[in-house]
Amino acid sequence: MKNIIITGASRGIGYELAKQHLQLGNRVLTISRNVDKLKELEVFAKEGQFTFIGIDLSNFDEISNVLTAIENWDKVDILYNNAGLCINKPFAEITEEDLIMSWKVNFMAPYRLVQVLLNKFTISSHVVNVSTMGAVQGSVKFPGLSVYSSSKSATVNLTELLAEELKDHGPRINAVALGAVQTEMLEEAFPGYIAPTQPHEMAEYLVDFGLNGWKYFNGKVQQASISTP
Ligand SMILES: NC(=O)c1ccc[n+]([C@@H]2O[C@H](COP(=O)([O-])OP(=O)(O)OC[C@H]3O[C@@H](n4cnc5c(N)ncnc54)[C@H](OP(=O)(O)O)[C@@H]3O)[C@@H](O)[C@H]2O)c1
Repeated sequence: MKNIIITGASRGIGYELAKQHLQLGNRVLTISRNVDKLKELEVFAKEGQFTFIGIDLSNFDEISNVLTAIENWDKVDILYNNAGLCINKPFAEITEEDLIMSWKVNFMAPYRLVQVLLNKFTISSHVVNVSTMGAVQGSVKFPGLSVYSSSKSATVNLTELLAEELKDHGPRINAVALGAVQTEMLEEAFPGYIAPTQPHEMAEYLVDFGLNGWKYFNGKVQQASISTP
């Protein structure tokens, strides 16, 4: 049984990720603001397998509450930094608040989570930063995503930096740049766009990558996309 933390599990890819890890028998802590939706995951869990905590990841101080939720865990095997905020807005209309919130959720929260969990990681622990194809240098870009993709891109860079700085003690840390997945985020940002991939399909890939990717990769960005974007 692996100990897994998943942020942004109240819907979309994170929800499916939590469900699949629970069905595999792993112990899962889920995090998001909407705890009622997190609670729904309980139906997939056996006794003692599932915990959830409401944290607003844009609140730097609140993030350390995660330690209370896992105080009886000896280690964390996988942390999925999956929560994300996607703002699709013309560059000229982006506000200071848009910038601050995006960078807090997409960059500062993953940064802080790794920091507060450092003593719970081992050399075989794996941090998976869920990013986007738009954060990959040279990929096709789309108008309106300046604040979203740039904040996700900073997390990709952080992935490389932490892989080097933490390589002797762990965790291994990688990023996955996702193509379009049919979630509420996508529907809100690009109404009517039909993605070729469903949340449960992307979650299947992320489950496997989380469990096994640390053996082969550190500080790498995997592209998980069959479409443009
Ligand atoms: N869907 C796509 O096409 C696509 C493509 C590329 C990359 N991605 C990335 O994949 C990840 C999952 O995307 P998704 O499409 O499944 O998104 P989603 O359906 O919008 O779900 C986002 C999750 O993040 C949580 N979240 C957002 N802000 C938060 C905050 N301040 N504090 C705590 N939790 C917060 C939400 O929970 P609460 O609202 O309950 O807090 C929700 O559970 C994201 O990082 C996204 O950027 C998605």
